[in-house]
Amino acid sequence: MNFTEEYKKRKEKFENCLKKFSNELETLPSELSQAVAYSLFCGGKRLRPVLLLEAAQMFGGKNDVAATNFAIAIECVHTYSLVHDDLPCMDNDDFRRGKPTCHKKFGEALAVLTGDALLNLSHELILNSIASAKERDALIKAGVVIARAAGGCGMVGGQSRDILPSVAAENIDYVYEKKTAALISAALEAGALIGGASQDESANIGEFGKFFGFGFQLKDDLLDGESDSPNTYLNIFGRAKTEQALKECTAKAIGILQGIKNSEFLAELTTHFMERTE
Ligand code: IPE
Ligand code: IPE
Ligand code: MG
Repeated sequence: MNFTEEYKKRKEKFENCLKKFSNELETLPSELSQAVAYSLFCGGKRLRPVLLLEAAQMFGGKNDVAATNFAIAIECVHTYSLVHDDLPCMDNDDFRRGKPTCHKKFGEALAVLTGDALLNLSHELILNSIASAKERDALIKAGVVIARAAGGCGMVGGQSRDILPSVAAENIDYVYEKKTAALISAALEAGALIGGASQDESANIGEFGKFFGFGFQLKDDLLDGESDSPNTYLNIFGRAKTEQALKECTAKAIGILQGIKNSEFLAELTTHFMERTE
């Protein structure tokens, strides 16, 4: 398998679905629909939807349409989190993926509303999928997994610690587990449930996601460098320790995959993301 080609193919397939879905954004007031579309189509690796769709395939590929809708929903959650994360009251970033952030382009108030609209779109997508499904149980469980991981016990909880002026060394793991790994893990767990996995199987792939997600944030820090926020592994523990922690996370993630069938793509993805240079 040529991983880079394969990833690109999956990303493009997902983006075609996202484009079709975004036609519905025309029903929003035009200023809001522009800001939502700008944020959704401003680049991005589409990691969470690719993971969700892969997990669904790995465990049987049931509920194809629902998997696509959940994949769009999780990208909406991710996009909303970045729009809010970049706001002046949060990280105060002017650029994301080399382009002006949502609030720089559309103003702060509309950026807040853009995030709100994206989060609600995700609920609408998930609830519509559940409403139109014959077998609802797995989809309801998948919806709960995503809602919990995105909220105060997950991503938002991690962000609320991350904005403290200084996070103590013993609390930095919590920030990483919650602000980044939780949603990544949820993408895998929810995807597995939608595709037909048992409770144990979905929990196990979710566990892989926790290590992968933690490592993903460590790698993000290493690529961003020391100048970023004070609350990073890199600034607290230094480069050598961060690289060592990344190695350990990667080994644990790969170790879990060794006990999971059809996990070749995820193993390649893990190596690729942990070794990426941009
Ligand atoms: C960025 O996530 C924020 C983190 C949690 C590290 P991604 O690196 O997945 O963002 P995009 O969507 O690909 O830009
Ligand atoms: C963003 O974390 C995490 C979110 C949940 C939004 P960071 O602040 O570390 O990521 P970047 O550097 O803005 O992408
Ligand atoms: Mg940020």
